Amino acid sequence: MAPASQTSHSLEILREEAADCRACPLWKDATQTVFGEGPQHASLMLVGEQPGDKEDLAGRPFVGPAGQILDRALEQAGIERKKVYVTNAVKHFKFVPRGKIRLHQKPNTSEIRACRPWYERELSAIKPALVVAMGATAAQSVFGKIMPINKNRGRVIEFDDGTRALLTVHPSYLLRLPDADAKALEYQRFVDDFRMAAAVLRKSARAA
Ligand code: URA
Repeated sequence: MAPASQTSHSLEILREEAADCRACPLWKDATQTVFGEGPQHASLMLVGEQPGDKEDLAGRPFVGPAGQILDRALEQAGIERKKVYVTNAVKHFKFVPRGKIRLHQKPNTSEIRACRPWYERELSAIKPALVVAMGATAAQSVFGKIMPINKNRGRVIEFDDGTRALLTVHPSYLLRLPDADAKALEYQRFVDDFRMAAAVLRKSARAA
């Protein structure tokens, strides 16, 4: 793989290069690299953790149960998913086999770091007005360090290069909540975070 500085910023070229990524061992067991998808000039970029079982098979991000929650929340916030660039901090599925099931495993710091150049290259190809990091792994990749979600949620954080970011929870977190009331409340907060993202985008479009 050529160094990032020597390669084109076209998303299609990035996608092709990422298909052969061997920067960490996760490629060995995964079906394929699941690269981001969406328009090259998206104003909003969403970052998740890593592909799950369904995404690994389909080769597309957020097409499984977490993706369904995400789609619903985006729609309620008035955001069209087809206009959004959706990607993951780690682009191969990490799992342990349990009989017929492949159990999701959280990526570790060295896997997140190994995959970060892809995020950086997606970011510089797209130059979105806003990045939303969903969950701790995404936040670690977007910010390059551990960022507690609850402490930093609800405010726009601006980087030196002008990139702006918001943090929210990962949609899988909502799936795992056992209590129905807590689930409804947390889902509403998730939608509210996307409403805030939509408001930030409207403001930045007006300012442009
Ligand atoms: N969870 C993620 O973080 N990303 C996906 O693409 C699917 C589930």
